Amino acid sequence: MTVQTFIPNGAKAASENTVTQPTHTSDVSIKKLYIETQGCQMNEYDSHRMADLLGDSHGYILTSNPSEADILLMNTCSIREKAQEKVFSELGRWRKLKDKNPDLVIGVGGCVASQEGDNIQKRAPYVDMIFGPQTLHRLPQMLDQHNAQVEKPKKDKIKLVDISFPDIEKFDFLPEPRVEGFKAFVSIMEGCSKYCSFCVVPYTRGEEVSRPLDDVLAEIAGLAEKGVREISLLGQNVNGYRGETFEGGICTFPELLRLVAEIPGIGRLRYTTSHPLEFSDELIQCYEDLPQMVSHLHLPVQSGSNDVLKAMKRNHTIDVYIDKIAKLRKIRPDMHLSSDFIIGFPGETDENFAETLQFIKDLDFDHSYSFVYSKRPGTPASDLPDTTPEQVKKERLAQVQKVIKQSSIEKTDAMLGKIERVLIEKVSDQDPNILIGTADNTRLVTFVGDATWVGRFAEIEITEIKTLNFVYGELLNLEPDVA
Ligand code: SAH
Ligand code: F3S
Repeated sequence: MTVQTFIPNGAKAASENTVTQPTHTSDVSIKKLYIETQGCQMNEYDSHRMADLLGDSHGYILTSNPSEADILLMNTCSIREKAQEKVFSELGRWRKLKDKNPDLVIGVGGCVASQEGDNIQKRAPYVDMIFGPQTLHRLPQMLDQHNAQVEKPKKDKIKLVDISFPDIEKFDFLPEPRVEGFKAFVSIMEGCSKYCSFCVVPYTRGEEVSRPLDDVLAEIAGLAEKGVREISLLGQNVNGYRGETFEGGICTFPELLRLVAEIPGIGRLRYTTSHPLEFSDELIQCYEDLPQMVSHLHLPVQSGSNDVLKAMKRNHTIDVYIDKIAKLRKIRPDMHLSSDFIIGFPGETDENFAETLQFIKDLDFDHSYSFVYSKRPGTPASDLPDTTPEQVKKERLAQVQKVIKQSSIEKTDAMLGKIERVLIEKVSDQDPNILIGTADNTRLVTFVGDATWVGRFAEIEITEIKTLNFVYGELLNLEPDVA
């Protein structure tokens, strides 16, 4: 069997599984596609685009049942070792499906494919297509090529592997996103050039590349026309956005936010993820000027110890982070803050950890994605001596999560009697007079209202706290539709 990169056009080199959900799947004659997504929101976004793409090119529709699918795609994550091992255990299950149905096509994409393409071929030779985060737009051609060689003897088959980094061409080949509901993600940049010492992302997704400004604005305007009211801008470091403008200039992230806020229909703006280093005064100013921006920020810090931050190559100190949040809270005193933490980084002492815990208490985080450090092959941190016992790391992590959970409970409790701006998203399944929406701080809010209000924003006074993420309220004001 010849091993060859498919389309030789390359340039350079939290996580729970989700299944990209079908909208309809009843006709047995229609070809069905099953996608399992691991890892981050970027992967979620990519999986939806893969479904759109194969739907448009080959008429595939999504199924949530892998055993009735004609093609199985896995969009993988390699951020931690556990995530990566999951790929091979799941592929083992898929192999059994292929034993029963030899026509079944199996494709592996995402960051594990990008980093471990060779290994996947060796450990799982029954995988038909391997593609990376930057080449998923070539899936239809890859599938055609696969279909064209199905009848060929094994020795003449070309292995379909494309894990190259062809800059940003991906977006030029993706169809218009399909809209479901009132919220949408829009990817504005790919990759990361920060090279934190523990992280595989720059190697698996490539360096930072921004989508041109006009493409981003056109996509958002299209979504708004189809009823989308809340946009989440996506990228590994959205505040590193440097999108080329039509005139050949460069648009920065704060400038982009201002332009997006002008698009009729867009009533709420979120973004994830951003880096503290590029969390500029211009960006903070947007919180004063743009009411569409939510009072909720996810700003990864990773550690509350300067020694650890230095070893992580985060390139900023704790004071820098604290100052920026203080400025932000001056403008928005109710700002809800969430972050990522890595606990048990090589060399993290008891003292360093105590600093992190104190930092978490001082900053009053509402939420976190926190994990024990996972050694990733090929990253600089993988060479650092690491003598802290795993059990100690786990205990430290449990402490962090306990403190943040408590703070989260207190934040929900503090909503009682306050007024929240809510995007009304749906009517309750149980009662047609009850509406459900989300507050800025992502809590679900239910209240009595009219089904015709769905898709609009409302001011709701919170009257009862039900659970950590779920509160009741009463309508104070229904905003006019922003379109
Ligand atoms: N762009 C983001 C991070 C993206 S990666 C930033 O600015 O930091 C998502 C998260 O995964 C990171 O924030 C980090 O907390 C976690 N992560 C990355 N590499 C890891 C590793 N080797 N071990 C444990 N957690 C890791
Ligand atoms: Fe990873 Fe650091 Fe970039 S955590 S995604 S290298 S900012």
